[in-house]
Amino acid sequence: SGSGKFFVGGNWKCNGTGDSISKLVSDLNSAILESDVDVVVAPPFVYIDQVKNSLSDRIEIAAQNCWTGKGGAFTGEISVEQLKDLGCKWVVLGHSERRHIIGEDDQFIGKKAAYALSEGLGVIACIGELLEEREAGKTFDVCFQQLKAFADAVPSWDKVVIAYEPVWAIGTGKVATPEQAQEVHVAVRDWLNKNVSADVSSKTRIIYGGSVNGGNCAELAKQEDIDGFLVGGASLKGPEFATIINSVT
Ligand code: G3P
Repeated sequence: SGSGKFFVGGNWKCNGTGDSISKLVSDLNSAILESDVDVVVAPPFVYIDQVKNSLSDRIEIAAQNCWTGKGGAFTGEISVEQLKDLGCKWVVLGHSERRHIIGEDDQFIGKKAAYALSEGLGVIACIGELLEEREAGKTFDVCFQQLKAFADAVPSWDKVVIAYEPVWAIGTGKVATPEQAQEVHVAVRDWLNKNVSADVSSKTRIIYGGSVNGGNCAELAKQEDIDGFLVGGASLKGPEFATIINSVT
């Protein structure tokens, strides 16, 4: 089973403006949050500074992406050094929207993960299958291949959290059942045990993402190998996000 603190991330994706984000921050600041949970939010890049300066230190900041190495002549990119300068502690990498909409591949994602970790950022490493892959019985194959790309690239797992996000469950309202999620989380843990080490397998947190909300979080959180959540839509509502954070069992 999993270990470590329950971990809940809020991925705000490309949502919000200064006003809506300041309302969300004030709702989060006034929420009562279970103390034994790591909480992280990932605002759009352009609001990281605003959020860092207004959000309670109880909550850490993640970036939604980063460049593969040191900054320089890379138009439109954001470097790890810049993210650290703004106070980010984490970066989300391998998100399905970047894999499938933007076209990032395993190798490119692995490079980013290696660099971010080498510079001291934590990595929320996302994996997950498409609906057609699940229907073709390829869920484990796809997840293991994505996992292997991270494993081949990362020097250490101390600051890695794995997020299993089945693509068919993201933003669709079709949450995985607790059994479906648990089945993949166990398989991921088993893969880590066989391919990395028993220590990494037992210590790495494996969180679930995909249509998690205030109504379904408690059942999911009861599963032995669900060590937290990566939340999209429901993380844009302060009180509901607090409910998800407090679903730890
Ligand atoms: O990274 C979180 C995510 O992709 C899930 O999004 O809106 O289905 O909670 P959502």
